[in-house]
Amino acid sequence: MSASTTPAAVQSDPRTRDLLQRRHRTLGRHSPLFYSEPLELVRGRGVRVEDSAGRSYLDAYNNVPHVGHAHPEVARAVHEQMQRLALHTRYLNENVLDYAEQLLATFEPGLDRVAFSNSGSEANELALRVARQHTGARGVLVSDWSYHGTTSALAEVTTALAAGEPFADHARRLRVPDATGLDAAATAELLAAALREVDQAVESLDRAGHGVALVLIDPLFTTEGLVRVPDGYVDGLARRVRAAGGLVVSDEVQAGFGRTGTSMWGYQEHGIVPDLVTLGKPMGNGHPLGGTVLRADLLEEFGARNEYFNTFGGNPVSAAAGRAVLEVMRAERLRERAVALAPVLSAGLHDVAATSPGIVAVRGQGLFQGLEFVDPATGGPDGGAARAVVEGVRRAGVLISRIGRHGNVLKIRPPLAIEEADVRTLLDRLADVVAEVGTGSREPAGQRPS
Ligand SMILES: Cc1ncc(COP(=O)(O)O)c(C=O)c1O
Repeated sequence: MSASTTPAAVQSDPRTRDLLQRRHRTLGRHSPLFYSEPLELVRGRGVRVEDSAGRSYLDAYNNVPHVGHAHPEVARAVHEQMQRLALHTRYLNENVLDYAEQLLATFEPGLDRVAFSNSGSEANELALRVARQHTGARGVLVSDWSYHGTTSALAEVTTALAAGEPFADHARRLRVPDATGLDAAATAELLAAALREVDQAVESLDRAGHGVALVLIDPLFTTEGLVRVPDGYVDGLARRVRAAGGLVVSDEVQAGFGRTGTSMWGYQEHGIVPDLVTLGKPMGNGHPLGGTVLRADLLEEFGARNEYFNTFGGNPVSAAAGRAVLEVMRAERLRERAVALAPVLSAGLHDVAATSPGIVAVRGQGLFQGLEFVDPATGGPDGGAARAVVEGVRRAGVLISRIGRHGNVLKIRPPLAIEEADVRTLLDRLADVVAEVGTGSREPAGQRPS
């Protein structure tokens, strides 16, 4: 996630200072920005972005420009539709239907309806409403370090970011088990304990009279720090939720659209099929677009009870963007590219890890990976070292971030348009900065990740 930049942190550049002051006067001082020296990006192409001083950066962070910054096909599709007709969603439009059909064809049979919206938050909010009305229950299970959106119902179940709303009575947080570095016996024990914890959470919701409406998870556990759960955990969790009458919602805002390469959707990595799937960020390549994909019976039931419409969600212009994303992914074989580049990235990260006693794991898969930092003296998580590396590679012209409860896992999640030479550039810069920064904490406890 991100850190607010205060004027005190601003460097000497007068333009940056001026923009920051204007931002604070209009958007407020808590509107978050990345980096201690905020970036003013003015253009992008592919995986490159340029700042207002003409400096070029390799974007190894952003999943919104999924098929690459300013992709000409996406821009052309949006432009053409905008010139022809741009309005709301309550007229017939063949392009919207073409897009819906193409999108749904990427899911298993049974996940055969989509309700379009404008963001991941809206997609999750609708999933909550559908699940609660279907089950008659209120209870929500989430992981204990997760984020699913901005609405009040989602703020009440947020565990990874500050939220003024108290954590809801009707929610339970699950510790996500991390099998990194464990042998088979220890992994089996961890799995059993984690599933017992699920049973206890379900029982507790039942005892409190809430019941279980849904479990809402990011299947790659990205905000959590790319946790490697034991095989069978997600399946076991889903089975328990369903046995309690609840629905399974996979939040694919970060994990989806071929991010892993090996699967189009993150839940497929766990061999489950959810009841609802929520989509956002990469869906429109920068055009705001979200969606809730669900079983026909669930949408039928919800539609009969609620006059639900969404003025902009899946309007013809958004549909043009979404459709272009799917077409570019196919034409440029971007999932195949992710499959090919994932081992290059992973091997390079292992090489970097081998150079530093403070890097204890390479995490993640596909084109979403990271390095985990600890303080070699204490073995404890070292968010300060990760922060220094994020800031250092930014100065060296590469954009990444960090995640996890302690902000000690690098977040490397480039547009799928990245090429092997870019991956090698990223790894070279990272190696240089890790060597320069060394390890050991550089950050006071409690500072927010950037
Ligand atoms: C996993 C996940 N779900 C949902 C959201 C919310 O999406 P949006 O900001 O588009 O509302 C985010 C945003 O960061 C996210 O990471």
